[in-house]
Amino acid sequence: MPRVTEPREPAPAAVYTHGHHESVLRSHRWRTAANSASYLLPRLRPGLSLLDVGCGPGTITADLAAAVAPGRVTAVELTGAALELARAEAAARGQDNIDFAVADVHDLDFGSGRFDVVHAHQVLQHVGDPVRALREMRRVCRPGGTIAARDSDYAAFSWYPARPELDDWLALYRTAARANGGEPDAGRHLLAWAHAAGYDEVTATASTWCFASPAGRAWWGGMWAERILHSDLARQLVRDGLADTARLEAIAAAWRAWAADPDGWLVIVHAEILATA
Ligand SMILES: C[S@@+](CC[C@H](N)C(=O)[O-])C[C@H]1O[C@@H](n2cnc3c(N)ncnc32)[C@H](O)[C@@H]1O
Repeated sequence: MPRVTEPREPAPAAVYTHGHHESVLRSHRWRTAANSASYLLPRLRPGLSLLDVGCGPGTITADLAAAVAPGRVTAVELTGAALELARAEAAARGQDNIDFAVADVHDLDFGSGRFDVVHAHQVLQHVGDPVRALREMRRVCRPGGTIAARDSDYAAFSWYPARPELDDWLALYRTAARANGGEPDAGRHLLAWAHAAGYDEVTATASTWCFASPAGRAWWGGMWAERILHSDLARQLVRDGLADTARLEAIAAAWRAWAADPDGWLVIVHAEILATA
């Protein structure tokens, strides 16, 4: 399909629902290329250039940089403050083949065909126009290069045992994410968005994270017990009158009870697309 460089409209506004509170960063820093980008790894080899859009605290970015070294990775975030987190992670690991740039995925400030691989993990669910974002990711990828995206699907989360407060958590999160211009059930849309963006050689797969061990439950449940009380999401829910603090405290208590339950089990479904530009 021919590439058309369209005149640039202003990027659609969307607010990043989670923010960068410590409890959110703890969740993102657990991520590795192995547990979050395994569908992409077979396409990586030393010497490739890779763009990581919405890199967050950069643990996946640093793993990808190790996989393509001596090739270079460019890590992109919306703000300099967010980018500093990834910069610190790279420095702590001594990973020196990463460049950093502030950019919006709707309007990447890179020439066409600049990268061999363009990657976004859990980003498209937060943007105002995911189809435009995918077009832009394709524009900066060289013909024959790889575009990879992975997004969770909140409506497909499943857990045991049932707790009404956890249903409430899910409903509140999906309402807040949509109010911010995002799509919390992005996973099921990902292939359709890729087709709408003009991708013709695209493979869709799915993979999961599962938390069912005492340590896994303590990590996930403890992290969400804090996020629902202290992150940007908590502030938004209270500010917009969607929930009061008592309701959020009940959700936090339910996450702790779920974490302490030896029968507790939770699966997070993610969709992935791997496309050839
Ligand atoms: C859920 S985090 C994922 C971070 C990282 N990719 C990971 O999986 O650990 C989503 C990130 O995308 C960034 N983001 C949101 N909208 C963006 C946009 N329009 N352009 C670039 N980055 C964006 C946010 O600032 C946030 O750090």
